[in-house]
Order: sequence, then C-alpha cells, then structure tokens
Amino acid sequence: MRNLVVANWKLNPETLEDARRIASKIEQGLLSINRSEVETVICPPFIFLPAVSAAIHFAKLGAQNVSRYDKGAFTGEISARQLKHLGVEYVIVGHSERRRMGGADDAAVNQKIKRSLAEHLVPILCVGFGTQKSHSTAQIKNIIRNQIKKGLKGVRGLRVVIAYEPVWAISRGLGTGKAATPQHAEEIAQFIKKIAKGSQVLYGGSVDGKNAAGFAAQKNIAGSLVGAASLVPNEFLNIIKAFS
Ligand code: PGA
Repeated sequence: MRNLVVANWKLNPETLEDARRIASKIEQGLLSINRSEVETVICPPFIFLPAVSAAIHFAKLGAQNVSRYDKGAFTGEISARQLKHLGVEYVIVGHSERRRMGGADDAAVNQKIKRSLAEHLVPILCVGFGTQKSHSTAQIKNIIRNQIKKGLKGVRGLRVVIAYEPVWAISRGLGTGKAATPQHAEEIAQFIKKIAKGSQVLYGGSVDGKNAAGFAAQKNIAGSLVGAASLVPNEFLNIIKAFS
C-alpha cells in the first residue's frame, strides 16, 4: 500500500482563489514526485471542494468531517453520500479539534465511519489526546485503545486509516507546535497496528518539510496528516517527497 500524505487545511484559506492556487501548485509539484510510492490527499473546507476537485488530477479529494446522519432535518450537516457525489474519496473523522467542539464523541465517530464506509469513502480516524507532553505512554495507549475500539466498533475488513495526533504536538490551537519524536510516534503506531490489524497508520502534529523524513523512516508510519504546512505548497511537497 502506498504511503499517504493528507493536507488538512482546517479553516483556511480565506478565498476560493487562494484555494485554487494552492491546490494547483501542489498538483504541479506532484508531476516530479514518485507517485507510485505516495498518495496525496487534499482536504479543503467543504465550500472549496468543487474548485479543488477541478484543480487536481493526481491528488485525491478529501473532506475534513462528515455527518453521522445520511439525510433529513440536520441543519449545517454534510452527508457521506453528498461528499461522494462531489468526488471525495477520503474523510477525516474525529479530529481532536472536532471532538473538542462537540458532536464527535466516540459513538458519533463510529457512526461517521460507518456512513463513510457505506459510501466507499476511506475514513481517516484521528486518535490521540492530551494537551501536555507529560502523559505516560501507558496512559496514551489506554486512551487510544479506547478511541479505536469504540470508533471502529462493528467495522470489519474495510480500509481504515488511523492518524495518531497528540494534541500537544499540533502546530496551532491547543498544541505547542513541537512535533513528537519519530521514536514516540513509531511506538504508538506499532501499538495501533496491533489493535487495528491491517490499518495504515499516519502521524500528525507539526510535521514540516524538515522533520518529515524522520517519520517516514519509521517502519510502522505510512504517511502523515499535515495541517499548517499543507497550506504552503513547497513545504507540503517536501513532506510528500520524504514519503515517496
Ligand atoms: P499541524 O496540524 O500540522 O498544523 O500541527 C495537524 C492536524 O491537526 O491535523
């Protein structure tokens, strides 16, 4: 399976023109990257999905969230089927920033994953916690085990990607902007693969063009979920290169 590098643009950029421009630059850069080793996914805000879709060819389209419901009286929600119709192939589920906003507890995450899989979207389940680095590895493993067991309850035999993102390692928001060490990420990735057999594990949290190679060198880390650096095409392309 190819490595997977996922751009999570979060609530950026401000305009449609910028979204088009960033996506086009990434797409251009992909021409000179060994794409047989790495798949690139761009997850823009929902409103930019059609424009980004039109600007990419080798990169795949992803969404940052999906509704747990499939239709009806749910103001502001976007369903997996609607995403599918727009050409979306991947969907980020249970990002720590969404868990914190509510409506994405483990039961909701589980429903979101099932809805996504039913539409043949590949869910990228985010796990990890803690705004401080001080949590013990045993504590981290316990929480992650729970998030995975509950998030993937009743899900068997379908492709699921799991992104390990310690909250403290995220570059903005509650994070410190300091990435985890590749060794720590590798230890947790190995643990995740034991619980969720056959899953592909990504590391996320302050990954940039310089530190990406350290994560790419780890045996159980098969890609990255990238926030801030994914909005800077050259930086993001360097990350993709590191995983190619
Ligand atoms: P970051 O964000 O790369 O800006 O730390 C990662 C994420 O939250 O997905």
